Amino acid sequence: MSDLRDEVQAGFQQRFDEAPDGVWSAPGRVNLIGEHTDYNDGFVLPFAINRRTLAALRLRDDRRIRLATSFADDTVEIELDTLAPKTIDGWAAYPLGVAWALGQGNADLGAVPGFDLYLDSDVPVGAGLSSSAAIECAVAVALNDVWRLGLDRRALVDAGHRAENDFVGAPTGILDQSASLLGQADSALFIDCRNFDTEVIPLGLEAAGLDVLVIDTRVNHAHADGGYASRRASCEAGAAALGVASLRELTKDDLLRARDTLDGETYRRVRHVVTENDRVLETVRLLRTEGPAAIGDLLDASHRSLRNDFEVSVPELDLAVETAQNYGALGARMTGGGFGGSAIALVPRHLISHVKVAVDGAFAEHGYAHPDMFTVVADEGARRDV
Ligand code: GLA
Repeated sequence: MSDLRDEVQAGFQQRFDEAPDGVWSAPGRVNLIGEHTDYNDGFVLPFAINRRTLAALRLRDDRRIRLATSFADDTVEIELDTLAPKTIDGWAAYPLGVAWALGQGNADLGAVPGFDLYLDSDVPVGAGLSSSAAIECAVAVALNDVWRLGLDRRALVDAGHRAENDFVGAPTGILDQSASLLGQADSALFIDCRNFDTEVIPLGLEAAGLDVLVIDTRVNHAHADGGYASRRASCEAGAAALGVASLRELTKDDLLRARDTLDGETYRRVRHVVTENDRVLETVRLLRTEGPAAIGDLLDASHRSLRNDFEVSVPELDLAVETAQNYGALGARMTGGGFGGSAIALVPRHLISHVKVAVDGAFAEHGYAHPDMFTVVADEGARRDV
């Protein structure tokens, strides 16, 4: 972490010939459980991870924005007043989207100066760990500070979410930005996405001798692609056909009626969301009463539902989950939107290398690309670092 702090300042100095005014950072996230429930007004239980994006920033005395990063050679330059949705491609759309979105909410950007910004990160890109939300949230806290906007974290979640939905054009929910802005060390964040009620739930992994292992399949996923949007559309169609504002309004008791009313595919999408909401509540209950060793079966059940009912898994994710389960994980599931990205496994600490070797072997046997595996801990959300 301190290395990355030095690197981001050095990178800024090298690209812009001056030192930054400060450095801000925001983490990626793992979603423990509660997948594809956020945009259905449901429950989620993510945690912020100890992989962060850092933003070094310096205010200018004009309205120009210059952006550079360690992961691309280009420097992007634009006037603050010309920012417009869906006009920018690539990584720069995320920081610029946030600058734009802050002006769409309750902040007046009429008199704020432009800025130079340099980004560095150890959140793997395309792994389903919300590298894009980490950029958005690091930039949101930085601009909130230097522009003295005085916005609370909820408003910054909105800005990140709006940047992603309206400026970039990916119809995602509030899961990723909420975790990145509100996460706390050693804890997960229980969010009711209907009213944005949040509660910090201690994970107790250390005391239980457990680790969360991330298995990045390296199968690239992209939210702007059709799969995510079509799942969301199915959920909306299901809710409309059943006469409810969102699938959150349904319980397991409604599933019989849903099966009679909906076509088979829409029914399965609905069943995933309804049962997943239940699993989140049950996970929270077990974490409070029995501790993390008790939640393994719920993680497994979540994966089955995402694979069979919601159909957002891929063979590489299924193999990662199944192998981890067979070699000692208490539970495992894909995390994030799916169609690639990462699985997580809840593993007794002494079995981590055993599981890693097994997953490596299974991937090699199937001729899949070598997966990237590392443990993560729950870390604190976005903050000023320097
Ligand atoms: C992606 C989106 C989130 C959420 C998950 C699925 O990570 O960005 O808003 O919908 O997929 O749970």
